Amino acid sequence: MGKKVDLLIENLKELVTPGTSRLPAKGTRMRDLEVVKGVSIVVDGGKIVEITHESDEYDPTLRVDGSRLVALPGFVDAHTHLPFYAFRYEEFLMRAEGKEYMEILKAGGGIYSTVSEVRKVPLHEMVHFNRRFLDSMFRKGVTTCETKSGYGLNEEGEMKQLECVRILNETHPIDLIPTFLGAHVVDKEYRSQTREYLEHLLSFSEKIKKYTNTVDIFCEKDVFELEDTRYYLHEMKKRGFRLRLHANEFEDMGCAKLGVELGAVSVDHLLVCSTTTLDVLASSNTVAVLMPGTSFFMNKGYAPARRIIDEGGAVALGSDFNPGSCMIYDPTLIIHLAVNHLKMKVEEAITAYTINSAYVLGVAEKLGSLEKGKQADILLLDIPSYRALPYVPGHDVVRAVIKKGKCYTQSTSLYLS
Ligand code: NIG
Ligand code: FE
Repeated sequence: MGKKVDLLIENLKELVTPGTSRLPAKGTRMRDLEVVKGVSIVVDGGKIVEITHESDEYDPTLRVDGSRLVALPGFVDAHTHLPFYAFRYEEFLMRAEGKEYMEILKAGGGIYSTVSEVRKVPLHEMVHFNRRFLDSMFRKGVTTCETKSGYGLNEEGEMKQLECVRILNETHPIDLIPTFLGAHVVDKEYRSQTREYLEHLLSFSEKIKKYTNTVDIFCEKDVFELEDTRYYLHEMKKRGFRLRLHANEFEDMGCAKLGVELGAVSVDHLLVCSTTTLDVLASSNTVAVLMPGTSFFMNKGYAPARRIIDEGGAVALGSDFNPGSCMIYDPTLIIHLAVNHLKMKVEEAITAYTINSAYVLGVAEKLGSLEKGKQADILLLDIPSYRALPYVPGHDVVRAVIKKGKCYTQSTSLYLS
């Protein structure tokens, strides 16, 4: 009799995992994937207990034939604006006809229209509304996901969003990791009194700590300018928060550079980057979180990913899923865009969507790679090789999602016994 375990995934066509020796993976280290053929993964108690060529010694409750499947770590989406409420398709159609995102925002629409919906909707309704997206993301292989507030703005609204995330996290298999983005735009009630609004956010920062240790800010011309951003992040850092920034999305005002100076874990978007910004990033451990889905959805330029990596910087990928600038959350599409438009190598894209994004979310110790001792968050994909991943945008290639050792599958032909 073999050793009793929960799950054995046998004889994989490929097991693919990024390395974890030094994190975040930067520059050329981003392409160092480990690819092993014919190996088996042993899962017990929600964890990977062994990766081995000798599977005979195990007696699993569930046995999966991996011979036609590629195993990857579950995708970690480093940047989303879940939870939100209501859709903004009319705004999308206006943009398709030439209206600018910033014009709509300045006219009181855009983010502000989601804010008024989020403030109005009952909490249970917002929980229900967002669960469908999580279900769909999970089927597509997202096993961990960042969620931002920033559609409540005032204390009550922001707390409602953070509470919504807490409820969803307890009731949905995806691990949700919240970030406080109260500094998304200045609440209209403050009539452009930016500092007063930031003081308001700081005034309830202790209450936020119950939910998250990370804050973000939309640093952009006419939103939060550089000096306001510096002041706010400095204050939040003093209060013990990790820092992230929406930086260089529309202009390079030096936001990414400021983020690096303040020791931010990430600077996100980076569509517009001067050479100085690239140099500063390369010499830091601040991760560039790139979201090609937004460029595609907004029909805008793409971030200089190739240059960031070639200079020695670290890149993570995220969807930026939100009702305004990006309604895309499918990792196969984002990886396709990363390879085809950001010019990332497929190996780099996988590292960026697993271990580097886990690093940004502060969970790289237990997630983001397939290694003995880590949480068993594993995808089983029906593709000829991991190198085919960018080639199948939108395809239904996920045969099973294993989350904390539990196997969720849509395929009845998966099991051997
Ligand atoms: O990352 N740029 C700011 N925030 C989001 C969009 C949010 C919205 O439009 O609702 C972004 O693109
Ligand atoms: Fe964003």
